[in-house]
This record gives sequence, C-alpha cells and structure tokens, in this order.
Amino acid sequence: PNVPTPVNEPVLSYAPGTPERALLKETYARMAGEEIEIPLIIGGKEVRTGNTDVSVMPHNHKHVLARFHKAGPAEVKQAIEASLKAHREWSRWPWEDRLAVFQRAADLLATRYRPVLNAATMLGQGKTAHQAEIDSACEFIDFLRFNTHFTQKLYAEQPFSGPGMWNRLDHRPLEGFIYAVTPFNFTAIAGNLPTAPAMLGNVAVWKPAATAVYSGWFIMQILQEAGLPPGVINFLPGDPGPMTEAVLHDPNLAGIHFTGSTGVFQTIWKTVGDRIDSYKTYPRLVGETGGKDFIVAHASADPLALSTGIVRGGYEYQGQKCSAASRIYVPESLWPTVREQTLEMISRIRVGDVADFRNYMGAVIDRKAFDKITGYIKHAHEASDVEVLAGGTYDDSTGYFIQPTLVEVKDSAYRLMCEEVFGPVVSLHVYPDSKWEETLRIVDQTSPYALTGAIFANDRSAVLQASDMLRNAAGNFYINDKPTGAVVGQQPFGGARASGTNDKAGSILNMIRWISPRTIKETF
Ligand code: ALA
Repeated sequence: PNVPTPVNEPVLSYAPGTPERALLKETYARMAGEEIEIPLIIGGKEVRTGNTDVSVMPHNHKHVLARFHKAGPAEVKQAIEASLKAHREWSRWPWEDRLAVFQRAADLLATRYRPVLNAATMLGQGKTAHQAEIDSACEFIDFLRFNTHFTQKLYAEQPFSGPGMWNRLDHRPLEGFIYAVTPFNFTAIAGNLPTAPAMLGNVAVWKPAATAVYSGWFIMQILQEAGLPPGVINFLPGDPGPMTEAVLHDPNLAGIHFTGSTGVFQTIWKTVGDRIDSYKTYPRLVGETGGKDFIVAHASADPLALSTGIVRGGYEYQGQKCSAASRIYVPESLWPTVREQTLEMISRIRVGDVADFRNYMGAVIDRKAFDKITGYIKHAHEASDVEVLAGGTYDDSTGYFIQPTLVEVKDSAYRLMCEEVFGPVVSLHVYPDSKWEETLRIVDQTSPYALTGAIFANDRSAVLQASDMLRNAAGNFYINDKPTGAVVGQQPFGGARASGTNDKAGSILNMIRWISPRTIKETF
C-alpha cells in the first residue's frame, strides 16, 4: 500500500472575475438566508436534546445562522458508549480502508464542499474569504492528506530481528476514547483534532467551540459522506463545564486532543491528575494553548518587510490566531521609518462585513471577546506610559468590530507586552539599539508563553544570536517572516511553556501520540 503522495492544496485567489469568487458569493448568500437546526451526532444518529443555543454572525450578531442542540452529561455518556462500541470494529479495519475515508473526505472538500465550508467559516467565525480559504479549505485538506501519509510512515516503523525470530510492532490505537476539544479560530484545527487520532484507529467524542458549531456541523457531514462509520467521531456541542466534567469521570478516557485556553487546559490536567488512579490507562494529554507571540527586529532589518510582518501577523483574522504577532520590539534607529510605513498600512485596512471582499478584517468572535479586547484598549487609553498610535476605537452596534490598534508601550514589562489579548491589538516597544542583547533577554522572559515568534534582521550574526537566545521562547520561529500561517507538512506547529505540549500539529510527532504499540516477538 502506498497512500497518494501529499501535496499542499493550492490557495484559490477569489480575485474579481474568478469562478471561485462567484461560487463562494452565491453559496454565502444562500447559506445566510437559511436558518438551520443542528442536532448532536451520536453513533451516527441525530440526537435532539431540546436544550438549544444559537450560532450568529460575528459581523451581524442579530442574524441567526443555526439553532443547535446541546449535550448534557447523559448524552456524553451515550457518546462514550457509542465510541467504545465503534472502537472494536474501527480499530480492526485494514488501515488502508481507514485512511481511504479521510482521503475521500479531503477530495470531497477540495472538489465539492469547499465553498460550503469556506462560507460557513466566514459566516459563523467572521473570516474573510482569503482567511477562510487558507483555513477551512487548504489547511484542513492538508491535515487530512498529510496525516494519512504520516500514518503510513508510522506503521512502517518496525524493529530489527535476529536469526530465528521475527520482531514486529503492532501499532494499536489507544484503549478507550479520545476527547477532542476544539477552538473557534481555525476550522482546520477543529477538523484535525478528532480526525488525526481516528486515522490510527481511535474513536472520539468531539466538543466543538460554541462559536464554531456551525462550521463543525458541515465538517461532520463531509466525514459521514466520506464513509466514516457511526460512532467513530461523535459530534457533541454543549456547555464545556458539565461536558468536560462528565468526560473526565469516565474510566475509559484514553486521551485528550485540545486547542483552547491555557487556563482550561490546566484545569483539565489537574482534574485528570486528581483522578489518575480511576482510568484504565494513563490518558495522553495533548494541548495547544495560549500565546503572546513576538516580533523582534534588529537594526539591520528591512523596514518594509518588518512593517508588513507586523500588519499581517498582527491583524489578519482580527488578531485571533494563536500565532498572531502581539508584542513587537523595534530598535530606535529603525523606528521613524517603520512607524510611518506601519501606520500608513494600518490606515488602509478596511474593517467590516466579510461578504464585502474588499474588507481585510471582519468582526471579533463574540461579546465576551469584544469586552475583553476593548477592556485592553480602554486600559491603553488611560495608562500613562502607553500611547495609542492607531485604532483604539470599536463599535458593536451591528457586529463586534474593533479597529486595528497599535499601541506603543514604554515599559517592556508592562502587562500589554505580556498578557494574551487575542484580538487586533498590537503592543510595540522601542528599544535603544545598544540594548539589543538585553532586549532578547526581555523577549525570552516577559511572557509565560512560547508559541510563535519572529526575528527580522539582515545581519546573520544577529539572526544566530536571536535564534540561540530565544531557543525556548517559541515552538515556531520565523526568520524575516510573520509568525502566522504555518503550512501543514512544511512548518509543524506548536509551542511549549504555557503554550502547550508541543506535539506538533500536522506532523508525525503528533500522530505518534495516538498509538500504543504492542511489541511482538515470534521465534521459529
Ligand atoms: N497554524 C496556524 C498559524 O500558523 C495557527 O497561524
């Protein structure tokens, strides 16, 4: 067997006059016009609990896209039972047949459902067409195709044998179920967290973020159409607290595949720790959590590349990527040029309804995010050592709109330089050129996170020095590029410290967490 060689899915342009643009616009308008009902999917069957909530558009929060049913502890129990029932057969399927399901899902997405999943991501999560395309189309297709390739590679990993014997590894899935807890900010990550373990024969209970149930529903439809057997992935929107509580109390919990906040992941870890003697096996905990991602510029940096990195890294998808650039360090000698170029670029950013393809930014995800981010902006306006250089305004009358905001912070240890904002607020500190080394130490030490980071420099020794001193400050380190936009198969993604367990998404290093190999020795 030889899975098709994966190639990254080409990004469509959606430029005026292209067929993909017309199709996406038409699909978006159609989907915006129909309110759907979303049930749970347990053991392949639709379940309606009657306890419902709504999915709305972030850029038009009175517009309801869907009414979705929410799981309670009883449905969690049913879903776990359904998954364990499915485990028996699914884990015994020839692996080629399992992988074919995900290859088919990738093809269905690439050829038939691309406009649907892109429109769902635009409507429900407020992404622009381009941001939706690189996420729900390209990145998700890539996860599906590359992970099938990594699965085959993993299965090929076998021990040596001596004379008169044959040693082998039986790459078993984990014994039990996986709890996949997925975020709103990437449809691809939502799709990856339950599917990556499933490729290796695992089964999952999937809790999508409340603000991404809408796109999650379409992912589930695609997987089912691709031939995913009932119970292998169970779709369970619901309130995180009671659901997670019910999951963590089940002795069959074998792993958690999580992307979300540091606080929630730590609470989960503590609960698992407290209950460790109640599980049949040590649950594998794989989590990608927060970030306070940096760009540090050396005096030798190209100012235009730097300004572009700040603007694209900081404001694309409203700064809601876990990888978004949110603390910037610029040397005094470069600052006048960088300031002028950056402010000029920001002044040209259009914020508004993502149905208008000229807008570069949409709204932030929901009321809670809006309040948190604008709280930081209010604080920036009031603080004496902080100057708001751009933006600083917001309006939630129609959608949760926040203008791209750039603040200059005098004290490099100030909270705006350390805390995760998760919105379009970029904090920038100007340092004296003579304090380059000290600045690198500050970059390394002022935030508990270590997800992504970038150095801009043309001086090779500065690059080397930053790379060395910031070795543990980022799991994804970019040289002369923005810290966002990791591509599956090219830049395996994840960070350590408070940013997660660094089990690189989109690589064999992630897939390896979802097997529990049995070593077999046979003598002749
Ligand atoms: N993979 C996403 C990025 O790199 C999170 O921006």
